[in-house]
Amino acid sequence: MKILVTGIAGFIGSYVAEFFLNERCAVIGIDNLNSYYDPALKRARLSRLEGRAGCTFVEGDISDRTVMAELVSRHPDITHVVHLAAQAGVRQSLIDPYAYVNANVMGHVTLLEAVRQLKSLEHIVYASSSSVYGLNTSLPFREDDEVDSPGSLYAVTKRANELTARAYAHLYGLPQTGLRFFTAYGPWGRPDMAYYAFARAIMTGQPLTLYAGAGLARDFTYIDDIVRGVVGVVTHAPASGTRLLNLGGDHPAPVRRLVSLLEEKLGREAMIVEKERPLSDVEATWASIEAIETLTGWKPRISLEAGIDRFVVWFLGYEGV
Ligand SMILES: NC(=O)c1ccc[n+]([C@@H]2O[C@H](COP(=O)([O-])OP(=O)(O)OC[C@H]3O[C@@H](n4cnc5c(N)ncnc54)[C@H](O)[C@@H]3O)[C@@H](O)[C@H]2O)c1
Repeated sequence: MKILVTGIAGFIGSYVAEFFLNERCAVIGIDNLNSYYDPALKRARLSRLEGRAGCTFVEGDISDRTVMAELVSRHPDITHVVHLAAQAGVRQSLIDPYAYVNANVMGHVTLLEAVRQLKSLEHIVYASSSSVYGLNTSLPFREDDEVDSPGSLYAVTKRANELTARAYAHLYGLPQTGLRFFTAYGPWGRPDMAYYAFARAIMTGQPLTLYAGAGLARDFTYIDDIVRGVVGVVTHAPASGTRLLNLGGDHPAPVRRLVSLLEEKLGREAMIVEKERPLSDVEATWASIEAIETLTGWKPRISLEAGIDRFVVWFLGYEGV
């Protein structure tokens, strides 16, 4: 197997690449190391991969046609693509909507145009998001739910990815699976996400913002479970067309519970400031995981308590606090 991992310096991409390198697969990774959050964290993740047998890193932008054409011409034997590069984050899409269209829409199309030339390509697995369920309130979210009420431009770009995948399967017969990730967290995680930002606020004695509403909950999914889910799907290409699968913890937890766990593990109290929930943020998420379980036998294994425990150990070491 030769795997192209886009967004290899990202949170999920670095773990997925590590898994395949451990399996002695060849991994080509691309990332533009942008500064949406501290690029030093991206470089630190990369430094755990670079130099390992089978790992090739290309610093470049997936929306750059020349870069992508050159990458596939150098590696015509790529068999699988795990496409994770994107401008992530719901709230930032109100601040810089253009970055989402560039990375998520143009980037996805440029990637597909490049890899559809590959003769040996067996499967493209790409990141979608629980955000596509948008303003839906019927829980748990199921893959066949109607998803025409996005709450943010981020969600729009992820839904566009799903529809683009369907068109490319129809036009060019590319087998593709879209994974709708639900709030991935863990060591080496993203500082823009609540669990990380909350931990920083608690340790530095800064107030943290909690959105009002007792129903505020997320289906947190520990990174090891995410990675097992992704790699389990990679070798299960659909016979034809595309499919969508939820990849979530199946145990939604109140965001207040997350704060309590962080307080307990960090041994400090949080200063909580309540604010009204922004229109872009949904109240609750919960993944129905029947489809992925039926396909690959996948089930989440790590509880929020165990996962936050591991995150905090890493966080204290990495942040040096
Ligand atoms: N982490 C989650 O909870 C979550 C939830 C739902 C969906 N997702 C999706 O999963 C994927 C991975 O998420 P993550 O948490 O690892 O995010 P991340 O931001 O840590 O990783 C994305 C990586 O892609 C790179 N990148 C962005 N634009 C690029 C471009 N144009 N060209 C090349 N590289 C580019 C970034 O530098 C980054 O390293 C993303 O598509 C994200 O939207 C993540």
